[in-house]
Amino acid sequence: MKVIVAKDYEDGAKKAADIIEKIVREKPDCTLGLATGSSPVGMYRELARRCKEEGLDFSKIHSVNLDEYVGLDGTHDQSYRYFMNDNLFDHINIDKANTYVAKGVGDVEANLKEFNEVLDKTDIEIQVLGVGPDGHLGFNEPGDTLYDKAHEEVLEDSTIEANKRFFASKEEVPTHAVTMGMGNIMRAKALLMIIGGNKKEAATKLLMEDKIDPHCPATFMRLHRDATVVIEESLAKEIGYIQ
Ligand code: GLP
Repeated sequence: MKVIVAKDYEDGAKKAADIIEKIVREKPDCTLGLATGSSPVGMYRELARRCKEEGLDFSKIHSVNLDEYVGLDGTHDQSYRYFMNDNLFDHINIDKANTYVAKGVGDVEANLKEFNEVLDKTDIEIQVLGVGPDGHLGFNEPGDTLYDKAHEEVLEDSTIEANKRFFASKEEVPTHAVTMGMGNIMRAKALLMIIGGNKKEAATKLLMEDKIDPHCPATFMRLHRDATVVIEESLAKEIGYIQ
């Protein structure tokens, strides 16, 4: 696992954008696996700037997202479909018909069937990841069992607690989500994790150790042959990764 220590959030955003830009230029019709959360927002902003000012071309790019809340329609401002449009797709020349975010409303089983069909016929060139305070990837919550394919998860209280900042109250945070499984994530050709935000110390520390622990799904990154983690210097120091 390659670790890139960035000076700060903006520097991390640029370094992560460099990795995505290289892939988009080399394989202009590939599929990007995308993620939500505050960690990748800076990278998306930088990619949008490069699209506008430097001609980075997304016109033939496809994308598939990690996860979606159950119960939120794509027009809800906290749905991940809305997030992706708002933070990236509306600012680059991607064809939205080529972007896929699992459906959050309607029949969950049917939505998961569709999500898995999309994943089964897609080769993800690079999967962008954040990490939850409890070490979750996408919405693969810690536990004795992790799942291969796209499935529904009951969200941990710590996840609901962490994500309530985006909602009017904790009660409004959905309790369930659909997410790519760990197998879907691990089958991407490359992984790019950006770690930003609060309360990531424990999960990041475990990620840096030589142990794979289903109680911290992020540690599975270490099993991937092309995994990169972008971490801010302040966090790297705090967990003792650098002096
Ligand atoms: C949500 C998403 C995760 C993301 C996490 C961290 O729970 N489902 O995919 O990694 O948030 O978000 P942030 O980057 O805002 O800390």
